[in-house]
Parts: sequence; C-alpha cells; structure tokens
Amino acid sequence: MGTCYITRRETFNAAHKLWREDWSQEKNDEVFGKCSNHNWHGHNFILFVTVKGLPNPDTGFVINLKELSQIIKELIIEPLDHKNMNLDVPFLRGILASTENLVIEMWKILEKPIYLAGGELAKIKLIETENNFVEYFGGKEPF
Ligand code: NI
Repeated sequence: MGTCYITRRETFNAAHKLWREDWSQEKNDEVFGKCSNHNWHGHNFILFVTVKGLPNPDTGFVINLKELSQIIKELIIEPLDHKNMNLDVPFLRGILASTENLVIEMWKILEKPIYLAGGELAKIKLIETENNFVEYFGGKEPF
C-alpha cells in the first residue's frame, strides 16, 4: 500500500494591490504593472490543498476531507473571502500580497492543524487568474 495524495478545492475572492511604500510610483508601476493600481483590484482565487499519507485501515481515508475542508475554511477562507488582503487580513499584515507570499503564509497556518488531523501537507496550489498560478511544496523539493 503506497502513499496517496488527496486534494481539497476551495474558492475565495479578495482584493489587493502589489505596492511597496518604500518605492516611487514609477518603480511600483514598472515592477508590478497593472497590479500596482492605487485603488485595488480583485481576483477569484481557487485554492487546492493537497495532503499525503497512507489510507487509515479503518476508514480508507488519508484524511477526512470534511475535516480538511473545515480547517481550510476556518483558517484561510474566512479571514480572506471578500476582504482586502493589504488591509483586512491579520496573517498578511506587512506582507506584499503576491500569490507566492500568499501560499507561503497559508502553508505556515495549515501545516500543523493538518498534521493534528492525521495528514501531511504536501502541496498548496493557488490559481490567481486562468493563466497564472503558484504551487508550493513547503520549501522541500516536490519529488
Ligand atoms: Ni492581482
């Protein structure tokens, strides 16, 4: 019996801008392009949280997906959904709200609760637009 990777999908929408206070308007525009827009813009994000492990002999589950969904909703979706990521979200305070930084912060939040629920966080994938997404493996090489 080998390792299984199971994934829960969740969605949220949120506003942000990519902006550094310590840079000029010109520098922000040059580096961040349209994402530096002063009055914000939003995305419909799609989040995939992948957990790995051996199926529990009693349940056949690596992790109970309902429990995984509750963890993600409480710790990630609730604080983010319909919020301004630069202003409203405690776990992003002081952090440039790029998709890369988002998944790194999500990993820090989710790793332990998922472990306590019996799984091992293996990957977080966050889709920002239909053409742009980020995958993160917790600083480890994926394979
Ligand atoms: Ni954006």
